[in-house]
Amino acid sequence: MTEIKVIGVIGGGQMGSGIAQLAAAYGHDIWLIDSDPAALTKATNSISSSIQRLVSRNLLSREVGVDALQRLKCSTDLKELHSADVIIEAVVESEDVKRKLFLELDKIAKPSAILASNTSSIPITRLASSTTRPEKVIGMHFMNPPPIMKLVEIVRGVDTSDETFDAIKTLAERLGKTLICSQDYSGFIVNRLLMPMINEAFFALYTGVATKEDIDTGMKLGTNHPMGPLELADLIGLDVCLSIMKVLQSGLGDDKYAPCPLLVQYVDAGRLGRKRGLGVYDYRKLPKPEKSKSRL
Ligand SMILES: NC(=O)c1ccc[n+]([C@@H]2O[C@H](COP(=O)([O-])OP(=O)(O)OC[C@H]3O[C@@H](n4cnc5c(N)ncnc54)[C@H](O)[C@@H]3O)[C@@H](O)[C@H]2O)c1
Repeated sequence: MTEIKVIGVIGGGQMGSGIAQLAAAYGHDIWLIDSDPAALTKATNSISSSIQRLVSRNLLSREVGVDALQRLKCSTDLKELHSADVIIEAVVESEDVKRKLFLELDKIAKPSAILASNTSSIPITRLASSTTRPEKVIGMHFMNPPPIMKLVEIVRGVDTSDETFDAIKTLAERLGKTLICSQDYSGFIVNRLLMPMINEAFFALYTGVATKEDIDTGMKLGTNHPMGPLELADLIGLDVCLSIMKVLQSGLGDDKYAPCPLLVQYVDAGRLGRKRGLGVYDYRKLPKPEKSKSRL
């Protein structure tokens, strides 16, 4: 099996930056690519403060933290990925954008490179079909935030080889994750179950069943969920939730997955959740968390 040294991550948003941080902390050299230079600046700052937080809580040694930051390189140029052994795509949840990206990556990446997608819901077989190496394309679905959450959902496309599966399984385990494997159907396992619940929480709010606080408290204290569905939607991003519901609706051919009009309206209004400071809840009024005093 090819040794995985250099990992390319595309998309410096909340998932891509978290995946880059995690893989760097486990000793991989990272190229983090985003088409938006501002996203790379934001990603570098958030990785740096996240590492400082982990060090100050003794969850990461200072040496590993310093080493991880040195292993991270950022660029807007996809061509930097020619040296990567594995490329993990974490750009917006749009099939069009991802297919175009896989088409380009297929030309840039070395022939032995594995192309993985962090998609939440889009079938891997469809992304693989825009490349000439479908046997090297696989779903590697991290949970949010990637450095903390223990799960990786692996999705094999129809042509994914055993060799590719074994390499990604080994990588995920080395990153300290527990794996589950899903067949390649829209939404896989986690979002097939999670997103209809979140969508139903929006319907409960939309139809006046209860307040947002009571919906979330009901699920936290009544069913032992660590976060309420509406709080979780804000963490994930309402745009991501909406895209996933649309993929479920069209991919599984069932209107029971039709997105709630309130979810659509919030996204139309730019209320995308925590990343914008406003979603179901308003985060702009919350006091800023205290800056960690420890320095790397
Ligand atoms: N948000 C979550 O909780 C979550 C969890 C698991 C998986 N995912 C999946 O991860 C992916 C990314 O989600 P996110 O929440 O990090 O999104 P995000 O909006 O935070 O970040 C997306 C980033 O991709 C960049 N981008 C867009 N098109 C690009 C391109 N063609 N080339 C390079 N960069 C490009 C954007 O500039 C942005 O910085 C999606 O597929 C999503 O479904 C999200």
